[in-house]
Parts: sequence; C-alpha cells; structure tokens
Amino acid sequence: MSGALAWATAFAPASSGNVAIGFDILGFAVDALGDRVTVSRTARRGVAISSVTGVAGKLPSDPAQNTAGRALLAMQESLDPGFGFDMRIEKGIPLGSGLGGSAASAVGAVVAANALLSAPCEKLELLKFAMQGEKVASGSLHVDNIAPSLFGGLVLTVGIDHPRVKRIPVPDRIRAVIVHPHMFLATREARAILKRSVDLSDFVWQTANLAGFISGCYTNDLDMIRESFQDVVIEPQRQALIPGFPQVRAAAMTAGALGCSISGAGPTLFAWALEEDAPRVLEAMRAQFAHQSVPLDEWVIGLESEGARVVASG
Ligand code: HSE
Repeated sequence: MSGALAWATAFAPASSGNVAIGFDILGFAVDALGDRVTVSRTARRGVAISSVTGVAGKLPSDPAQNTAGRALLAMQESLDPGFGFDMRIEKGIPLGSGLGGSAASAVGAVVAANALLSAPCEKLELLKFAMQGEKVASGSLHVDNIAPSLFGGLVLTVGIDHPRVKRIPVPDRIRAVIVHPHMFLATREARAILKRSVDLSDFVWQTANLAGFISGCYTNDLDMIRESFQDVVIEPQRQALIPGFPQVRAAAMTAGALGCSISGAGPTLFAWALEEDAPRVLEAMRAQFAHQSVPLDEWVIGLESEGARVVASG
C-alpha cells in the first residue's frame, strides 16, 4: 500500500565517481556515509524544501536551484502524481568532497518520493529524474555518482538520454580505502580546468585500461585490475588541485594498493586493496596526508552494497 503513505525517509549513500579510468561513467557506492531525505505529500502541487540540516552548510532552498528539489520537479513534471512534495534534507556528505554529495541528495529525494506514489517507478526511471538534479550542481549531466548511489556497488552507466546501467561484480577480497581531507573543491571548477581534447595515444591507453579493469573485475583477475588501474587523461590534469596527491598515491601503491586515484573531482582520494593489505594502505595514505596538516575522515569499505533505500515511512 505504498500509495497510501504520507511520508517516507530514504537513505542515499555517498559514492566515488570515475574509479580512475571511467570518467563520468563508472562509480562505486560508499555506504559508510550518506544523505537522508524525508519527503511528505502536500495537498498543494509543487515542490518545497522545508529544511536542510547536517554537514553541508548553506544550500539553495529554491527547489529549482537545489539538486534534490530539481530532481523532484523533474519527477512531478513527468508523472503529475496529483499532489505536491515537501522535503527535509539531512546532509551526511560534505559538499565539495568528491563523495557524490549532490547526487545523494537527488537520489534520496526521488527514492523517498517514489514510495509515496500509487504506481512507483523503476530505478532506471528514477535515475533520469535524479540526473536533472545533478546537472544543477555540477553544470553537466554525469551519472557516475547518481547510478551507484541509487543501485549500490560498482556501477557502469552507458548513455545519457537512455542510460543503461550495469552492476559490475568486484572480487570479494577487494576493499576500498577512502581518505577525505577537510578541503572544499567545487566539481564545477574541477571540470572547467579539463582540456577539451585527448591525445590519441592517451585515448588508446585509457580505453585499454577501462576494458582491462572491467574484464579483470568479471574474471577475478587481480593482476589485470592492478595493471589497468591508471587514469592517464583526467588525473594528470587535476592532481595539482590536491596538495600532496602524488605522494599519497605513491605511498598507497608502495603499501600494496591495486590502484589509487582521485574520488570524483576530489579532494577525497581512494585506493583499492586486498582486505589484508587495506590497513597498511590506509596507514600509508594517512601518513602522507599528515604533511598537509589537514584533518581527515577515513573509511575502509566493501564494494557490495544495496544502494539507496527507504528507511522509515508513515
Ligand atoms: N565524473 C565527475 C567528475 C564526478 O570527475 O567531474 C564528480 O563527482
């Protein structure tokens, strides 16, 4: 009887976009933190935001300018459910962290609102609404945070107008080590510095790495994953935005990581490592960041997760 619900609260996990070699198309969910969005039905049509609390500071309360608000407006315009949405957003993901904070708010909003509908949408439909929200935040329609936050796990998305989503299996011994330095980096700015063209040799190398990485995941080939876990296009252009990045990456690799790169647009960095190596990799990354004298949050997580879900309703 989901159509009879008056309100629902959804948890939408953080996410790490790009995963080194899949710029804008590959991402994994980071279930250790996330946003909670409560959506209530209102008699009056339209979308309202009654509160934004948590770690994000001041966010736009005009629904058209807010990622979650824009996603719900897109949902209303498309479905016209005959009632309105009022939303309360609890931010658990710092903005400008590279952990998919804007995507999580948009995903949380559409998952919560979906629970109020008499004919709920499939996740793929929700993805399209949430993408409209992400566009407000970063100025572009990229899906590498939205899709893993919604579906969970490591996710590849192909296409924008008619996206196809594929959950990629990850060998179960692999963990993600995530280190978030308390710095703000705007995705919009980190995208604006990128060159519009790519050298042919870099294109070949990056394509091989993406193919190698995906096939390594499917075939449990750790050597292939390690060998192909390198971004030769985006990371070299962005690394100057993150003080100490080359040292942190080198330390992670020396400590046994399969790969280490920038999470989304940064400044969070992540590494993948075997379960037994993950504590040593984390320690190595932390030690290098210590030179920057910046506070850190850190997590070691598994790569399997269920994605955004309704956690309360009434
Ligand atoms: N793929 C996007 C980027 C992710 O790197 O700009 C932003 O979180």
